[in-house]
Amino acid sequence: MKVCIFKSSVEATHEAAKLFIEQIQRKPDCVLGLATGSTPIKLYKELIQACKEGKISFKRVKTFNLDEYVGLDRLHTQSYYRFMCEQLFDHVDIDKRNCHVPNGQAKDIEKEEQQYEAAIEAAGGIDLQLLGIGGNGHIGFNEPGCNLDCGTHLEALTQQTIQDNARLFFNGDEAQVPRQALTMGVGTILRARQCVLLAFGKSKQAAVQGMIEGPITKANPASVLQRHPDTIVLLDALAAEKLKKSV
Ligand code: PGA
Repeated sequence: MKVCIFKSSVEATHEAAKLFIEQIQRKPDCVLGLATGSTPIKLYKELIQACKEGKISFKRVKTFNLDEYVGLDRLHTQSYYRFMCEQLFDHVDIDKRNCHVPNGQAKDIEKEEQQYEAAIEAAGGIDLQLLGIGGNGHIGFNEPGCNLDCGTHLEALTQQTIQDNARLFFNGDEAQVPRQALTMGVGTILRARQCVLLAFGKSKQAAVQGMIEGPITKANPASVLQRHPDTIVLLDALAAEKLKKSV
């Protein structure tokens, strides 16, 4: 695990953008794993800008998102499919048939889990996986206590995640937040050839410290990235504040 600390989230985001731009330039038909949440929004803006400037094209890129709420319509204001359209897909030259987000409305969830894994494999596997981290150490929606080997699966959201995400729902109402999500598993994430994890701000300090300096434990699912052969963690100074060793 390579850890880089930047003065601000702007600089860390810029470094992440460089990695994504280089990946797409090196392999124009690459497979990207993408994430939602507030953390990657500025990264997507940089990728849109690079596409507008002709530095990269998404025409042959395939994408797989980490997760989706169960039970939300694809066009619900808080669905992750809609988030991706608004933050990235609608602004670049990507073919939407190449954009994959788990179907949280699938009637047969088990079949959807298998099909999502099969689609990733058929695409040749994920070349570069973007990750955020929850205040509780989750990656994707792999919550504390999760199985550290599994593939795409149904996960119950913890109370902390429901609380953290309520701010994005109507009136910040926790009751509106779905209780389950379909998520790539930790096993799926570990199969990506390279991972880039972004974490900014005070609310991520404890999770970041556990991920980097703690033992590999289900209590902090991100800690399993210590086992991944090519993971880059990009932090702002605030998120890195609890790290004991200088990196
Ligand atoms: P955030 O979410 O980017 O909104 O902080 C990250 C996550 O929960 O994985």
